[in-house]
Amino acid sequence: MSDDATLDDLLHETRRFPPPEDLAANANVTADVYETAAHGPLAFWEQAARRLTWAQEWEQVLDWQPPFARWFAGGRINVAHNCVDRHVEAGRGDRVALHWEGEPGDSRTITYAQLRREVCQAANALAGLGVSAGDRVAIYLPMIPETVVAMLACARLGAPHTVVFGGFSADSLRSRILDCDARIVITADGGYRRGAASGLKTNVDEALKGCPDVRNVLVVQRTGQDVAWQDGRDIWWHDLVESQSTEHAADSFDSDHPLFVLYTSGTTAKPKGILHTTGGYLAFAAWTHWAVFDLKPANDVYWCTADVGWVTGHSYIVYGPLANGATSLMYEGTPDTPHRGRWWELVEKYRVSIIYTAPTAIRTCMKWGDDVPAEFDLTSLRLLGTVGEPINPEAWMWYREHIGGDRCPIVDTWWQTETGGILISPLPGVHACKPGSAMRPLPGIAAEIYDDHGEVLPRRDAGGYLVLTAPWPGMMKTIWGDDERYREVYWSRFPGAYFAGDGAKWDSDGDIWLLGRVDDVMNISGHRISTTEVESALVSHPQVAEAAVVGAPDPTTGQAIVAFVIPRIADGGTEEAGLAAHLRDHVAKEIGPIAKPRQILVVPELPKTRSGKIMRRLLRDISANREPGDVTTLTDSSVMDQIKEKIPTED
Ligand code: PRX
Repeated sequence: MSDDATLDDLLHETRRFPPPEDLAANANVTADVYETAAHGPLAFWEQAARRLTWAQEWEQVLDWQPPFARWFAGGRINVAHNCVDRHVEAGRGDRVALHWEGEPGDSRTITYAQLRREVCQAANALAGLGVSAGDRVAIYLPMIPETVVAMLACARLGAPHTVVFGGFSADSLRSRILDCDARIVITADGGYRRGAASGLKTNVDEALKGCPDVRNVLVVQRTGQDVAWQDGRDIWWHDLVESQSTEHAADSFDSDHPLFVLYTSGTTAKPKGILHTTGGYLAFAAWTHWAVFDLKPANDVYWCTADVGWVTGHSYIVYGPLANGATSLMYEGTPDTPHRGRWWELVEKYRVSIIYTAPTAIRTCMKWGDDVPAEFDLTSLRLLGTVGEPINPEAWMWYREHIGGDRCPIVDTWWQTETGGILISPLPGVHACKPGSAMRPLPGIAAEIYDDHGEVLPRRDAGGYLVLTAPWPGMMKTIWGDDERYREVYWSRFPGAYFAGDGAKWDSDGDIWLLGRVDDVMNISGHRISTTEVESALVSHPQVAEAAVVGAPDPTTGQAIVAFVIPRIADGGTEEAGLAAHLRDHVAKEIGPIAKPRQILVVPELPKTRSGKIMRRLLRDISANREPGDVTTLTDSSVMDQIKEKIPTED
């Protein structure tokens, strides 16, 4: 959690930004909805589900056998039909679903009618490879339209996908494929990032050395780079998909049928496969997207800058926007290629009206300077969003002034992979937003803040643990293959409540401030990485005897990874510097570049209690340049002095 001084500053934030009058007057959701939802949450969610097209209506809105929920039980639905076909059937086939821009500057415009044809072709192709309902398909692709097509084709067949972010290593890909037993992998030769073609197929080849059950790899040609080929297993997407029929009759699936598995870091070394099911998830993703972004599908151009490999991409690039018939922009590359104004150039080019991004990206743009966005016409924007980590008021204000022209509301949206969609956020037509606060639980969402003993804290000046005390339609079903772990991780700390792992505080107006994780999960640029996962990557190296990892405050990425490592043979000096650099690369290879520690300190010992437990609190103090707190429980108090000697002074 943030230290108290910072928190006090935050809570004295007095600036308020009421909604623009015209937005409030025409808002999709108005203040009265909170009351309606509070009086009858199930009826309220039922209304949200009616925004979709069901093949068969549910018999029961919620079958709740804690902690397992079946939403819209007995209902049958096809997700792809809802995201694509129904818009075409309603006469909106010519509406643009995706404006796609590749990093090198190539672009494609895909209407709903075209998307329907491509999804049907891909579904036919996958069916031809033997994929049927319930089979898992791994997707390891860059940000290209085929990624959306592949996800929807899986959904159409009822085959749960597991999308693995392209920045994850071959090892991470392998463990995910094995955990959910995917038999088909969809990838590309590579993608463009920072002006160069990076390889994906090579990582798949490496990963599959340990996945004997994968029978086919479908490869999209994106960069044209040379790739190794295994005849019989590897198939070009264009060879197989483009010759398929553009018609495919979609079956409907039970509302509780698995839709996707998405891995996320927990407090152990093994990522958890978060399972989301069909009807509740889609109803929730669609409703929250429509409500929080005040989406006007016929007029807005919506852009979520996340990667589809994360849950934000699943819910707010693919399922929510498409279910709502939105027109979206999708961009393949990085914000600074070929120049630092690339994002703002895209906003101008496509007349983007809603943008949804991460605080870390905003802080990076702040660093690049006000003059960069000032060169572009950003007047098409009417609403801004953020997600992934607490946003500091300074970044919030910069976003409002320099991107939003001091006129656009900002929705700071709190949620998690597990929650499927946004749970806490202002509604743009209702609230006077405060810089740095995620404001209120959405209508129908029962959030509380508990103290250590599970007592509800008053909605005034009180901080503790954020919990959800009633189920919501987007909630995860379970951890793939491990119901017990699901129960243990989320429902055991406070029986009867879902424990999110975040600290939060009510301010004196009853608005919520998120305070960061209270467990051993770090948040690096809005991405969850577990300390244990990085530690186990470090100790897998033959030169490492022991490792402890903590998250340290970082002005751009929110938190940064700092590792303390005891080498097997301590030699000191330059050898240690070499080892640190080498270990950073080792972690990138084991997990992926996002998990590369910012700093590795080679130390002779770690601070431990008499029972041998590493005192991370002290390491956190050191890495944040704070004076270490109470050291009396240490076995050897001189350890801290030895570690401090290792801290480079310029840091
Ligand atoms: O700590 C919270 C933080 O990100 C975590 C969820 O990470 P992940 O499952 O990867 O999903 C990220 C995108 C939804 C949360 O437990 N977090 C997310 N949004 C916010 C946030 N912290 C503060 N404010 C937010 N708006």
